[in-house]
Amino acid sequence: MPKITIDGIECEVADGLNVIEAAKTIGIHIPHFCYHPALSLVGQCRMCLIELDPIPKLQTACSTFVKDGMVIRTNTEKVIKARKAIMEFLLINHPLDCPECDQAGECDLQNNSFEFGQGFSRFEEQKRTYSRDIPVGEKLVRIQDRCIHCTRCIRFFREIVQNEVMTYQWRGNNTAMTPLEQDGRRLDTNYSGNMHELCPCGALTLKDFRFKTRPWNLTNTESVCPLCSTGCNIFIDHKQRKIFRIRPRVNMAVNTWWICDIGRIEFKYAHSQTRIAGPRVKGADADWKTALDTAAGLLKTTGASATAILCSADATNEEALLVKKLAAALGCSAASLPAPGVDPLEMEDHLLLRADKAANTQGLKALGIVPDPALADKISGGAIKTLLLINPFNKQLAAALEGIRDAVAKIPNLVVLDHNETDFSKAAAVVLPGAVWAEKNGTFTNYKGLVQRITQAFAPAGKAREDFGILLALAQSAGADIACKTHIDAYNEIRDDLLKLEAQIKKDIEAKQKAAAEAEKA
Ligand code: SF4
Ligand code: SF4
Ligand code: FES
Repeated sequence: MPKITIDGIECEVADGLNVIEAAKTIGIHIPHFCYHPALSLVGQCRMCLIELDPIPKLQTACSTFVKDGMVIRTNTEKVIKARKAIMEFLLINHPLDCPECDQAGECDLQNNSFEFGQGFSRFEEQKRTYSRDIPVGEKLVRIQDRCIHCTRCIRFFREIVQNEVMTYQWRGNNTAMTPLEQDGRRLDTNYSGNMHELCPCGALTLKDFRFKTRPWNLTNTESVCPLCSTGCNIFIDHKQRKIFRIRPRVNMAVNTWWICDIGRIEFKYAHSQTRIAGPRVKGADADWKTALDTAAGLLKTTGASATAILCSADATNEEALLVKKLAAALGCSAASLPAPGVDPLEMEDHLLLRADKAANTQGLKALGIVPDPALADKISGGAIKTLLLINPFNKQLAAALEGIRDAVAKIPNLVVLDHNETDFSKAAAVVLPGAVWAEKNGTFTNYKGLVQRITQAFAPAGKAREDFGILLALAQSAGADIACKTHIDAYNEIRDDLLKLEAQIKKDIEAKQKAAAEAEKA
């Protein structure tokens, strides 16, 4: 490991780091615009200039890699003067329209301008301007006046999305980022939304979030995307019990810096008009006690062989434990349904999205709640008279239920626990309104067995309750012996099972990769 000195601090850093990353390890921030750790180096914004002994000229920190004995200075008069000069240069044409810019408050250009800008301009000529608010596909809006030509957008689409949809047009002062849409290039990639964080100023903004609120008014809750089995790490940015946007949270073991646009934008069901407003019994509004007592009574009426629990893989691990305990107390089976042709490890694209559109298929598997093809036959044959159906709103469970939709709706003692209305909740004898993922605490196990925590951003909407509490009440009424009263107790009870599964999946993945490598060699 090279030993280097940065601003008089001696440190040992990992091999292969550039000076920006090396400085970060000891808490020194070197301002930069064009550099991003996931993208190729271009060294073109010159904001990251530093002094490097004994070289007389300033060097770019992004393209200088650490070597043993290096002496680096990041805060000398010469460096600060260079940063101020770069900022003055970048702001010649920038409109400085922060008060109406959506990026304000989380803008690298604004932050660096605050630190290194002069507060006045020597530029007396006309700023160059372009038409504003040009759509870049369905998801982004471009305001070229604000662009600082860092080329992050060009490199992101070329290198990460692998679809070159942005390029330069014109030269010098007139250079503009221009979307391309030809030769099979699509502006609407499933990853375009990442430019919301990646563009270092307000030149590319997210259509879905523009002018909705200021970022400093939002609370940021750490969570995990529930929309496929990758389990990308996210921030839920919310205010007054409403989600305003979803942003990626860096996790190098899962999603690196990115999320897909499905995960970013498809959270609207949390606040949709179809949220189940309150508990219902036989189609009429009911209070929670009546609904829970009726549901608990129904679950015991028809005997174990005519009773079943069918659960979507959007349940948390802790909820799945309670489902298992409830089933054991009732003596019935708890299962999911096989999703047609879905392999939890299969990718749907080259980057993050997986074919398995449920958050916790692997967690349910660890707890023994697995797809049971025979259950669909029993339901369509009329053998099931009592069914607790959990979260049929989940796309994957909905697809699996497609062929037995009518048979399920005709089950006399149908109890539905869900957050949004479906044909099943409309037909149910008892409806128990549950929570969406942003309203819950618990854990999901992703495709490779990694157990990840989801944190409640706000309380369930209206009269809805957390599914954990609803299942606990049902299991207790059924006489289950339950020591866990909170999701943390439940997690502690199942932790060993989950860790065993993680180790097993790791082995399976390695074996699969080895077999694929051998097949390629042969
Ligand atoms: S649009 Fe944004 S990301 Fe693209 S070059 Fe301009 S400033 Fe950089
Ligand atoms: S890849 Fe999957 S987990 Fe990641 S953001 Fe998209 S839908 Fe969510
Ligand atoms: S970050 Fe180094 S030149 Fe742009």
